[in-house]
Amino acid sequence: MSKLAVSMLAADALRLGRDARFALDAGCDYLHLDIMDGVFVPNLSFGPHILASLSREVDAVYDVHLMLTDPLPYIDVFTRSGADLITVHVEAEHFEQSISRIRHAGLRAGAALKPKTLPKDISRFFSALDIILVMTVEPGFGGQTLMEDQIHKIRDLRNLGFQGEIEVDGGISPENAASLVKAGADTLVMGTSFFMAKDPKGIADKVHKLA
Ligand code: DX5
Ligand code: ZN
Repeated sequence: MSKLAVSMLAADALRLGRDARFALDAGCDYLHLDIMDGVFVPNLSFGPHILASLSREVDAVYDVHLMLTDPLPYIDVFTRSGADLITVHVEAEHFEQSISRIRHAGLRAGAALKPKTLPKDISRFFSALDIILVMTVEPGFGGQTLMEDQIHKIRDLRNLGFQGEIEVDGGISPENAASLVKAGADTLVMGTSFFMAKDPKGIADKVHKLA
């Protein structure tokens, strides 16, 4: 069964609690929080206090995607704020130390790949990773179009021997979901297409039915 991670970037920023409950009631598996520093990506989003408030109020699996130039100084505060899994970018500073810190905190650790980063560039870290997040857009903004030329990376990661969870992020919709799962993805992040859908529960059901 594939999993659905709903990206809160596409939620109503004034009603995050309501929208988080809505996503969970529809059957989503993770709440995906995109954290941006305005340097690693040209945008700003949520800080740890938002996660802390949300996680106090809404019980969920919090999937925290750090798009930070140097995530290391922020691992502990996001851990304390309620993260269940934290993903850091391979391209960021202190990547390896950040992964060890996440694992040391007892959380699941993930590595995110920007579109120009190749699976072979991270194969030496496979044994330290619970999750690999394949970006199918340039990180920074929701609502972009999925880059089809990134899909092969999912299969490449499997061929290189990665046995953990593969999550895919950016431009995912009910229309392209099946092709990602077919390539070997376990978890699909959806923001815009979930919150704009006429039938969000139908989307969660559809994702869960994909092999
Ligand atoms: C982009 C973020 C994504 C984004 C996905 O930098 O990492 O998680 O919120 O949003 P959609 O599904 O709208 O492309
Ligand atoms: Zn993300």
